[in-house]
Amino acid sequence: MAQTFPVQRTCPFAPPPEYERMREDAPLVRVSLPGGDVWLVTRLAEAKQVLSGTGISTNPETPGHPHWALQPEPPTPEERAAMRAFAIGHFIDLDPPEHGRFRRLLIPEFTVRRMKELRPGIQRITDELIDDMLAKGDEAELVEAFGLALPSLVICQLLGVPYEDREFFQSRTRQALSNFDDPDVSRAAMMEIREFLDGLVTKVEPQPGDDLLGRLIQSGQLTHDELVGVIFLLLVAGHETTANMVPLAALTLMRHPDQLATLRANPDKWPMAVDELLRYHSVVDWVAFDRVATEDQEIGGQLVRKGEGIFVLGASANRDERAFERPDEFDVGRGARHHVAFGYGVHQCLGQNLARAEMEIALRTLFERIPGLRVTVPDEELPMKGDGPIFGLKAVPVAW
Ligand code: HEM
Repeated sequence: MAQTFPVQRTCPFAPPPEYERMREDAPLVRVSLPGGDVWLVTRLAEAKQVLSGTGISTNPETPGHPHWALQPEPPTPEERAAMRAFAIGHFIDLDPPEHGRFRRLLIPEFTVRRMKELRPGIQRITDELIDDMLAKGDEAELVEAFGLALPSLVICQLLGVPYEDREFFQSRTRQALSNFDDPDVSRAAMMEIREFLDGLVTKVEPQPGDDLLGRLIQSGQLTHDELVGVIFLLLVAGHETTANMVPLAALTLMRHPDQLATLRANPDKWPMAVDELLRYHSVVDWVAFDRVATEDQEIGGQLVRKGEGIFVLGASANRDERAFERPDEFDVGRGARHHVAFGYGVHQCLGQNLARAEMEIALRTLFERIPGLRVTVPDEELPMKGDGPIFGLKAVPVAW
């Protein structure tokens, strides 16, 4: 049957309803896009096979990459050159062995031990944001007041952005990520952030300190442009994802008081709840999971030929009834850690320990300090983001 793609979400708590039908039909479904046909991967086992497999490329320069299939016309050589220049150091788009050069340098920065050291800082930032909300009265909008600010301040701490620059940094990241209706404002803010990071690297290079950026400089393994690209990637990859997850997660817990009560009674269940929230919402879906086959291979009983594009439907794989019992139910007690909300294989989220720590501290503290927190509008009135690469809500009005 011909499939329409992409399809929009119609509910903040569920992937597009079409995903379930496609997943039932087959693990791989073929769709026609303006620039050519692409495979969609609908189930968890095949999603993991594609994301961890050899003979699969994520590099947009690889012939047949589906990134271009969304546009009717392929990009001009000038457009490609501009995109290539902008993407220096963005190792999320590189294949092994090139990818490993960057990843190896960064892994020690994101260990569980390093995240333990960051926790008091995350707690302080969370408390300050909640103090501000409480000081302003008895209502707030969670995306603006909490979701967007938290990861931006945490990343400032991680990168060692000087205190006096934080306000600039925060306002630009907010503009870059929350200007839904004006892509030009968002693009301009991105360029300003990139320039700011370029200046930061230039300032630190002569005397690198004992922080993430300092250690990367001292390794002597990255050029100036690669350094700027790497920290830009950390900022972008770590910001909108967490910024969208935190308000969505808070909303979900407010709508499931029984689950929230379980967490209040058993705070040791928070880490498990965070993984269930990540699975349930799967804010990163197919746009990030763009791949192309670099050799003929069989996936889920289907022959995929060299040069054919693939999108993994992460939000569908995380609701696969073959891997999760009652997948549409939100259940903080389920062990959901085998989800692909952080991807799988060589590109699996580098910042996942940081993201888990941020979500756990933010949500636990929010519900501890504001026990009467409630959403003030019905679900149908919560404005959802449209076609962006990362799903989220534009606003979550709350009161207490
Ligand atoms: C809830 C929060 C987050 C979610 C849902 C998320 C999700 C993901 C996913 C799905 C991927 C894999 C993309 C692919 O396979 O192509 C990924 C990669 C990545 N993430 Fe995250 N992420 C989150 C937070 C963070 C944070 C806080 C950071 C760092 C500060 C971060 C840094 C990265 C980086 C650098 C990569 C690329 C890894 C590589 O290519 O080796 N992410 N993330």
